[in-house]
Amino acid sequence: MWATNLKIVGVVLGTLALYTLIANKIPQVQSEVPQALTLGANVTPEQLVAAGEKVFNGIGGCTTCHGLGTRAPNLLTDERGTGPIGVRCAKREPGKSCKQYLYESLADPTAYVVSGYQPIMPVMTRQLSPEQVWAAIAYLEAQGGTVDVTGDDIAKAKQAAGPATAAGGGATPAGGPGLAGGSTDPKQIIQAAGCLACHKLEGQGQVIAPDLTHVGSRRDADAIRRKILDPASSITQGYEKLAGIMPKTFGSMMSASQLEALVEYLAGHK
Ligand code: HEC
Ligand code: HEC
Repeated sequence: MWATNLKIVGVVLGTLALYTLIANKIPQVQSEVPQALTLGANVTPEQLVAAGEKVFNGIGGCTTCHGLGTRAPNLLTDERGTGPIGVRCAKREPGKSCKQYLYESLADPTAYVVSGYQPIMPVMTRQLSPEQVWAAIAYLEAQGGTVDVTGDDIAKAKQAAGPATAAGGGATPAGGPGLAGGSTDPKQIIQAAGCLACHKLEGQGQVIAPDLTHVGSRRDADAIRRKILDPASSITQGYEKLAGIMPKTFGSMMSASQLEALVEYLAGHK
């Protein structure tokens, strides 16, 4: 009898240890920008630009694609003789101001695809709070242009983001419970994380990256978890050219329980 009890205690302790280990393994990317970036109504352009620079280089994951040469247009430096992004942003789409164009680039990246590039840019308003989005826009405008983002833009975006979350892809409210409102429903996590901007799953999504419908037959839960937390850890055969495209920020966007729900769900796709 005591042997059985001991076994149960052992299993419980083992499980706890495993969860602690997993929780500690999730790289909580220490970007200097806290998830809850608070920029008030009378935020100055300088404050916006400074916050935007951190979003760009940190939590935004922009440098995964931008600034590495051929994968995405240069933003901070000249792009094919048209200047850095602050200079060319007002000339991309007739009738669209620089600010409008940059917002569209982040909220609806396929609305205007820069010629010569693939439509691989994720919808950033799903991953970033209104503060982070508008700070990033201010930073981009500052690359050779005039910063005209104000606290008002942030307030309006926050209002708009409210009810939109019902559609499954609203912006994360600043300081809110995180991705997909903290849901542990794997489908909602996938939707909010934007996995289907690149992957196909059960017939939905894009074909840029491997179809995940049978990913569980190629990778076990550990390998899937590792891939999500550290996409550079293993590159799928045949996709070497696209190595580095998968965002590295998922580990900091999801809670440990969200990650486990997602991993279990994908591993079950045999
Ligand atoms: C997965 C790769 C990827 C990531 C991550 C990414 N982008 Fe992009 N981005 C692209 C590509 C490719 C294009 C060009 C094709 C297009 O227009 O969609 C682009 C276009 C843009 C443009 C329009 C450039 C122009 O010349 O008109 C802006 C602005 C932009 N991205 C900003 C950002 C910001 C800010 C971030 C981070 C918050 C970001 N991107 C993250 C791939 C990426
Ligand atoms: C911007 C595009 C992009 C996004 C967004 C993206 N991925 Fe990927 N992913 C890729 C590419 C490209 C590959 C193949 C190259 C590689 O292995 O890095 C890949 C590979 C994978 C693999 C390995 C597949 C296999 O068959 O070996 C898994 C698992 C995966 N991604 C899961 C996810 C999950 C889960 C999400 C959302 C949380 C996600 N990815 C979001 C681009 C993306």
